[in-house]
Amino acid sequence: MCSAIAVNAPVGVMDSGVGGLSVLKHLTRQLPHEHFVYFADSAHAPYGNKSASQIQQRCVTIADTLIDQGAKALVVACNTATAAAIGSLRQRYTLPIIGMEPAVKPAAAASNNGIIGVLATTGTLQSAQFAALLEHYGQSVQVVTQACVGLVECIEQGQLNTPHTLALLQQYCQPLIAAGADTIVLGCTHYPFVRKHIQQIVGPNVTLIDTGAAVAKRLQQVLEQQQMLNAATEAGDYVFLTSGTEETQLVMQQLWGLTD
Ligand code: DGL
Repeated sequence: MCSAIAVNAPVGVMDSGVGGLSVLKHLTRQLPHEHFVYFADSAHAPYGNKSASQIQQRCVTIADTLIDQGAKALVVACNTATAAAIGSLRQRYTLPIIGMEPAVKPAAAASNNGIIGVLATTGTLQSAQFAALLEHYGQSVQVVTQACVGLVECIEQGQLNTPHTLALLQQYCQPLIAAGADTIVLGCTHYPFVRKHIQQIVGPNVTLIDTGAAVAKRLQQVLEQQQMLNAATEAGDYVFLTSGTEETQLVMQQLWGLTD
């Protein structure tokens, strides 16, 4: 079925909202000749406090929309949605689907003192997939996890620098600092948009890791393997869709501008 899809078809990218734009930036850098259609499910964000079955339903609706747009592959640019829905999506659709998970493996490898922190949503941290990740890659290090309740909502509203956002970041980074983490995983695709503040709070000696670049390499690898790479030499087009409001569209423009 995949071979019937034109190589110049777009790649569909989805997130609970605007966070996946931090991943899309890596995708467009790695694959500048590909077309992308991005879907921000901001009317239903955050996913982090929703049940797995609610998230699965949303993911199917969005995947159908992206496939209607002609998507040749899907990137689930959301750790929470990947944990809840990647299995059911792969059962349902035959096109290549790339997901993402918190960078526990690279963080464990990068840490000098063997203490790593993970900032993520409640949904991600409570998922079976995250438990399996810790089982596989977290055994040799101490892993301190912190759910960042309310942070996605701030970023969805474009509030990157408000006192409330900064107070939440202080609150959530504090336990990781207290534990002595020298490496912190940004385990939600919204968090790279407040990376600068997180770095300021934890200090310059702490390494922050996110998975955007790794996902972009993985997409390239999969498209190569499936012979689905766009052979065009001109830059690809980007289409931005959202279930959210006009305000969401403005926030998307704001955040997309920040990724340059
Ligand atoms: N960007 C999503 C993630 O990577 C945010 C989840 C949410 O909407 O709570 O987990």
